[in-house]
Amino acid sequence: MSGAARVEPGLTSAARRNSRQAAAGLTARAGHDISPAGGGKTRAEVTPEQEPGLEVVADLSSGSRATTLLCRRDGRLFYRKFVFGEDKDRLFAQTEHLIHLAQAGVPVTPILEVLRDEAHCRYDMPYRADAVDFFAYLHTHTPGQNRARLVAILDSLFGSVHADAVPATPEAIDGYIRHKIVARVETLLGAGGLAPILAAESLVVNGIRLPGLPGLAGLLEPARLRELLAHDKCARVHGDLTVENIVCCEEEGASSGFYLIDPNGGNLLDTPLLDHAKLLQSFHGGYEFLVRVGKVSVRTESRVAEVDFPGFISPAYARLQADLDGYLRLHLSESELTSAYLHEAVHWLRLMPYKLRSDPARAPVFYAALVRALHTVARRVGW
Ligand SMILES: Nc1ncnc2c1ncn2[C@@H]1O[C@H](COP(=O)(O)OP(=O)(O)O)[C@@H](O)[C@H]1O
Ligand SMILES: [Mg+2]
Repeated sequence: MSGAARVEPGLTSAARRNSRQAAAGLTARAGHDISPAGGGKTRAEVTPEQEPGLEVVADLSSGSRATTLLCRRDGRLFYRKFVFGEDKDRLFAQTEHLIHLAQAGVPVTPILEVLRDEAHCRYDMPYRADAVDFFAYLHTHTPGQNRARLVAILDSLFGSVHADAVPATPEAIDGYIRHKIVARVETLLGAGGLAPILAAESLVVNGIRLPGLPGLAGLLEPARLRELLAHDKCARVHGDLTVENIVCCEEEGASSGFYLIDPNGGNLLDTPLLDHAKLLQSFHGGYEFLVRVGKVSVRTESRVAEVDFPGFISPAYARLQADLDGYLRLHLSESELTSAYLHEAVHWLRLMPYKLRSDPARAPVFYAALVRALHTVARRVGW
């Protein structure tokens, strides 16, 4: 959901469970639990109260504060996404964003019904038995099919909403630099837990030596950032184009073979490059594999920090990295491509406070990904 993708859940599992049951109009029968986000997809038996016959089949909740359930009513499956409290307006805005994207010709999930009251907002989406997320798709299909799917996704955006991009205003670029980059770098530098790694002049990631943050800091100065982002444009974008938010359909028929869910409008700088950068975060940065990394070891000695972890990235990801880079080279100018990698770094930067709080043992892994993205920018501009 907007603004909260790839972040840790903001509620305790008990609070999530309670709100989940209430919003679905359900009361779980004692002894039957609806598993918290990220846990197994336990089936819950429910007492029909507000919505007779509504059954929760699985909890698919992801990283945001919203809850997403697969439900069944009258023998028909559908997805229900809901949130309580102040985030309800953001969820409602998400339904409007989906409608705008659909009107512009982007394949997005249809919406069956939207409900907003003082306490919460929810919307329902149809279920398709042949739908799988892009991560599952790309690990079960051929390189050619994966490339074709990636190109179809990018083409659909390039040919619709992204095509309407207009130059970003200096105010939008300045606001983005101030709030999304400079403020976050300051927060990162204040993170006590990472102090020795942050201060290191060199960062050796799984044996590969990169300059540390002190050597890259010049790239993050406002004047330099203004140059790097000077050619950014603004458009309607998806805004959270993660692998999880792309759903592929096996039975293509007359449809596009995929649809998008969970968009996020209203970023400070709604540039199409944000969408490309989310895909770079997966295929260039390996996000979905980094969150699964097991043991991380860190050693800091005389201005060199070494971070070692099992750095497995699937061959499918490695190929899609090349496919994505190739596509972007064809469709973007040199400066836009550099900016796309900078936006990838900003996506990593945004993750850091959450990771430091919720997953401190893996925080150096995400820091390494941030440095890698910045280093790509540095190389591209001959830094
Ligand atoms: N319309 C849909 N079609 C297929 N899967 C869906 C759909 N809506 C949600 N899901 C599944 O539920 C997960 C969480 O939904 P999402 O809207 O992305 O929530 P969040 O805002 O927490 O990321 C998705 O990653 C996907 O696996
Ligand atoms: Mg999502």
